[in-house]
Amino acid sequence: MTTRETLAQQLTRARERTLRLVDFDDAELHRQYSPLMSPLVWDLAHIGQQEELWLLRGGNSDFPGMLDPEVDRLYDAFVHSRASRVDLPLLPPTDARTYCATVRSRALDALDSLDADDSGFNFGLVISHENQHDETMLQALSLRDGPPLFDTGMALPAGRTGVAGTSVLIPGGSFVLGVDELTEPHSLDNERPPHQVDVASFRIGRVPVTNAEWREFIDDGGYQQSRWWSERGWVHRQEAGLTAPQYWGPDGTRTRFGHIETIPADEPVQHVTFFEAEAYAAWAGARLPTEIEWEKACAWDPAAGSRRRFPWGTSEPTEALANLGGEARRPAPVGAYPAGASAYGVEQMLGDVWEWTTSPLRPWPGFTPMVYDRYTEPFFDGDYRVLRGGSWAVSADILRPSFRNWDHPIRRQIFSGVRLAWDV
Ligand SMILES: [Fe+2]
Repeated sequence: MTTRETLAQQLTRARERTLRLVDFDDAELHRQYSPLMSPLVWDLAHIGQQEELWLLRGGNSDFPGMLDPEVDRLYDAFVHSRASRVDLPLLPPTDARTYCATVRSRALDALDSLDADDSGFNFGLVISHENQHDETMLQALSLRDGPPLFDTGMALPAGRTGVAGTSVLIPGGSFVLGVDELTEPHSLDNERPPHQVDVASFRIGRVPVTNAEWREFIDDGGYQQSRWWSERGWVHRQEAGLTAPQYWGPDGTRTRFGHIETIPADEPVQHVTFFEAEAYAAWAGARLPTEIEWEKACAWDPAAGSRRRFPWGTSEPTEALANLGGEARRPAPVGAYPAGASAYGVEQMLGDVWEWTTSPLRPWPGFTPMVYDRYTEPFFDGDYRVLRGGSWAVSADILRPSFRNWDHPIRRQIFSGVRLAWDV
């Protein structure tokens, strides 16, 4: 398949997914489920607005676009906070759909005229952006009260017993952190450039921490004992009244997209803050990994002395290798993807749950901002922790071992979980 054909297919896949996530009536699309999230109709038009900006307006918002300048500005994420978007005079859903479709048809024309040897970086950026908003919309939909809008999700492979709580040794030594445009043409600025980093030996969880393991932490009074928590974490625990992961009920059930169900013991825990993850790790006699350790365990092949494109090798992700794409609407049980293990034997690194690391978001040495220079740079040195590996809600079209995500340490509406690490 040519680059142009691949990009066209990925654009179409992303759009089909977006339209499924906004296939509700107008009142639903205008609802604000939480001040943490935008109404879905904002995400919809913003997807089109960013696509127009990057593919049709050369990234220059002074260049006239299809929308009235005042309307165009409603969709600038840096101008309007998520909490305030519900009160903006947003495009009605029908107009937003029409706008997105018009932009898309012109974007496909632009793709047709792309040089055959062009990697289409901006198209990759737009595909990544749309899929990232699809995940954001799923976060919003999980915060929604009321009867479910969709079913409990597609079937997943069974897990394996005996893998929860086990760990893998990652021997010390240098590896190549990060990627470049030659190996990963659509990698974003914060993933580049590749560089050698020395990492001391450590152990890392073979699989993420499960709900059953988290239950032991709760039952052992983990949320009541300040000794497991950082100072800031403990203050937040008290102020926010945290006693369990978000969506857990007091009776062994959880609410997931409006469905009340028994909490599956062997599924990776999700919807925990960085502070909870850190406290759990301390209680378990472990720590969280740094993002550099995480990337080594995921991507490095020590026998070959080189990076793998994916933990398991070079083949594209499939349903047998990782839980991605959003249709499962939950993480898979631990041990479900032995074929997806990294060279070191670490499993479920891509998909299932985003994994908190101890690392604040920092540029790699030699960082150069990409065309969308507000994507990463404004967030350096802020109060963010990096999460790695993607979740069940991330599209396989945009995920790589080098992909970096970040959020405030108090956030947990995201599909965040935990993988432990240990010094050796
Ligand atoms: Fe955005």
